[in-house]
Amino acid sequence: MHDFQKVDIEQMEINPFRMIGKDWMLVTAGNERKANTMTASWGGVGIMWGKNVAYVFIRDSRFTKEFIDREGRFSLSFPAEQYRKEMKFLGTVSGRDEDKIREAGMHVGYYDGVPYIDEGSLILICRVMSGTPIRKEDFWDRAIDEKWYAEQDYHMMYIAEITDIMAR
Ligand SMILES: Cc1cc2nc3c(=O)[nH]c(=O)nc-3n(C[C@H](O)[C@H](O)[C@H](O)COP(=O)(O)O)c2cc1C
Repeated sequence: MHDFQKVDIEQMEINPFRMIGKDWMLVTAGNERKANTMTASWGGVGIMWGKNVAYVFIRDSRFTKEFIDREGRFSLSFPAEQYRKEMKFLGTVSGRDEDKIREAGMHVGYYDGVPYIDEGSLILICRVMSGTPIRKEDFWDRAIDEKWYAEQDYHMMYIAEITDIMAR
């Protein structure tokens, strides 16, 4: 397990377009008995309801979604470039079918009971504030529905308070 230090959010200088969209993140949820993780490249950070928040979009079919819905908490881990191959794997295989975290050679740590992927160099600990289903009828741009939801596997949009940040 790595040593992490707590980070003051006001001191952070991050580029979410690069960190989330290009380098990707791991969304991890569960408890001390069982945790699951998946790769995500859609989402963001910002301010909502007076809180520092992260928002993620998780399709109904993802095993990780069951853990988020059960626990109401999750983490976002940002591993270094050297873990690209593992992140592709964690974003292709489902934890329903395999013990994929172990197979990827990665490790789960816990912060205040919330699981995170220890190989991350930055970890955001999050508490779900809202979960809003993306629905067909919400699209002003109908082409999005056709392009991304042909199989009706819609996303849930979670907005979550960032309660703690750790880096190493
Ligand atoms: C680069 C990349 C980005 C991804 N982004 C998302 C995402 O933002 N939301 C989502 O629901 N799935 C996303 N996925 C797909 C999931 O990571 C993938 O379906 C994973 O196997 C789900 O695992 P699980 O069933 O164990 O939760 C992404 C996959 C990759 C490779």
